[in-house]
Amino acid sequence: MKNLFLVVLCALVMALLTSNVQEINAQTPPPITCDAQRLASCAGTILFGTRPAFNSTCCKGLRQQEPCFCQFKNNPTYGQFITSPNAQIFPSACNVTIPTNC
Ligand SMILES: *[C@@H]1O[C@H](CO)[C@@H](O)[C@H](O)[C@H]1NC(C)=O
Ligand SMILES: *[C@@H]1O[C@H](CO)[C@@H](O)[C@H](O)[C@H]1NC(C)=O
Repeated sequence: MKNLFLVVLCALVMALLTSNVQEINAQTPPPITCDAQRLASCAGTILFGTRPAFNSTCCKGLRQQEPCFCQFKNNPTYGQFITSPNAQIFPSACNVTIPTNC
């Protein structure tokens, strides 16, 4: 009798845990696709230090790709979009954060 009770209890706990996990998963937004080419429209800023408009294609792309910046840092073509001194224009112009510790 006691064993059966324990088994049922375990099943209940497992069911609760599983449903919680599913709830957390459902609340997580879909992962964004990292696409360094979306930074291409920011080339003027990197090359010439021009300040992009807050709603420009450049800034919109940066805001969308912000979670990917650390990954882009190692990209041979687009790494400089994160590491160049001119990239420091982006935080104030586009309201994105350029990571310094990755
Ligand atoms: C950027 O676009 C959004 C939505 O279209 C608008 O609400 C906002 O005022 C714009 N900001 C600037 C600085 O143009
Ligand atoms: C800038 O980004 C922060 C954090 O993501 C956000 O809270 C704030 O509303 C943004 N400001 C503008 C002007 O979009």
